[in-house]
Amino acid sequence: MGDLGRLLKESWSLVEEHQDKVAGYFYARLFLSHPDLRELFPVHMDVQRSRLLGAIVTAVQTLEDPEKFDEYLRSLGRDHRKFHVEPEHYEVVGGALIEAMREYAGEQWSVEYDQAWADAYAVIASKMIQGAEADSNPPYWYAEVVAHERRAKDIAVFTVQPMQPLEFRAGQYVSVECPRIQPRLWRTYSVANAPRRDNTLEFHVRSIGAGWVSSALVRRLEVGDMIRLAAPMGTMNLDRRSTRDTVFVAGGTGLAPIKSLLEELTRYNRTRWVHLFFGARNREDLYDLAELNRLAARYPWLSVVTACSDDPTFPGEQGNISEVVARYGPWSEHDFFVSGSGPMVKDTLKTLAELQVPSIRIKYDSFTDF
Ligand SMILES: Cc1cc2nc3c(=O)[nH]c(=O)nc-3n(C[C@H](O)[C@H](O)[C@H](O)COP(=O)(O)OP(=O)(O)OC[C@H]3O[C@@H](n4cnc5c(N)ncnc54)[C@H](O)[C@@H]3O)c2cc1C
Ligand code: HEM
Repeated sequence: MGDLGRLLKESWSLVEEHQDKVAGYFYARLFLSHPDLRELFPVHMDVQRSRLLGAIVTAVQTLEDPEKFDEYLRSLGRDHRKFHVEPEHYEVVGGALIEAMREYAGEQWSVEYDQAWADAYAVIASKMIQGAEADSNPPYWYAEVVAHERRAKDIAVFTVQPMQPLEFRAGQYVSVECPRIQPRLWRTYSVANAPRRDNTLEFHVRSIGAGWVSSALVRRLEVGDMIRLAAPMGTMNLDRRSTRDTVFVAGGTGLAPIKSLLEELTRYNRTRWVHLFFGARNREDLYDLAELNRLAARYPWLSVVTACSDDPTFPGEQGNISEVVARYGPWSEHDFFVSGSGPMVKDTLKTLAELQVPSIRIKYDSFTDF
């Protein structure tokens, strides 16, 4: 670890225990000195759920080498246009963050720590600002909900029609906000289709018990609602030049980006065998089975294996999808795409490592970091 990395970690450990207080102080400081910034943030600010502070701390600490994360930071900057963030806001936010840490670190805080945070933050902020400035897209697109279908107790599939075309690549995700129900709360959702001529986008959403946006999208969104979408992000795309057979592994609504990639393959694939493993807790949550079976019947190169981890009478495979993948194979020559919750992705990556699949052939999107 470089000197800068050591200083950042050392200084954060001084305040880590008081994260909630640091966050409270940070926002109070920010909104007192710049009341106009309050309206960029969600109406109900819950410090424990503070996304911004946690995100900056993670970024500053893990992006020790910002050059390596150049594209990510640029796209994060582009994405911040949806919050109405302006270049001059960066300095104010960085200042409030360092002050909040200084306040709670007590006497052990030093000028060196101040400098380390200021330096790391400045590099990250400048890349985000450059990304935002180079973006010729609108900060967000309005899109009308044209279909909404509950497929399970907690799962909905809905389609939107953007007012202006929104270009994306199969496998990407976009941030979604529903101003009528949860204004200023944005969450990322994968587009579940490949780009279409009519520009419509389909989403598969599972509501999380305590979740604010997902439950609104599943239970309260209606046809005719206008939602907002921000610029597409993500690199889980197909390599058209690859001639390898492909394995898709999806858990729950992790099927969304996999469906998008699959739809792209239906447009040109003739030569690659494609295996789709789709897992959920119970059969009700295998919410798109009818469509997957239809695709498998139509395209001879596609095979679909389904599994339930918590439904003993389910006639398909039993167990976590990562275990099920290991029952088939061999897989060491395949391209892999994995998508689902944090634990599902983590387990699958572990299994693939044990099966000697080189990590360079695996692309994945994890819906949560735990
Ligand atoms: C790249 C990417 C693509 C995504 N694509 C999709 C998609 O296509 N479909 C989809 O349904 N979701 C997708 N997600 C997840 C989505 O962005 C939200 O995280 C999810 O819908 C929860 O948001 P919320 O506002 O309802 O919950 P929040 O209000 O953000 O969270 C509420 C509480 O639930 C916890 N929590 C959040 N997620 C989970 C979880 N999965 N399991 C258990 N606890 C959780 C949080 O820690 C918090 O305590 C994707 C996430 C990422 C990063
Ligand atoms: C180094 C600088 C920054 C980094 C790394 C960063 C990173 C992030 C990330 C990863 C998120 C969560 C992603 C999301 O919800 O889409 C987020 C949310 C947010 N950021 Fe930033 N950000 C930075 C600077 C700023 C600045 C200067 C502002 C302007 C005030 C800002 C305003 C916001 C807002 C309003 C949210 C949503 C908060 C919420 O939903 O609770 N960010 N930031």
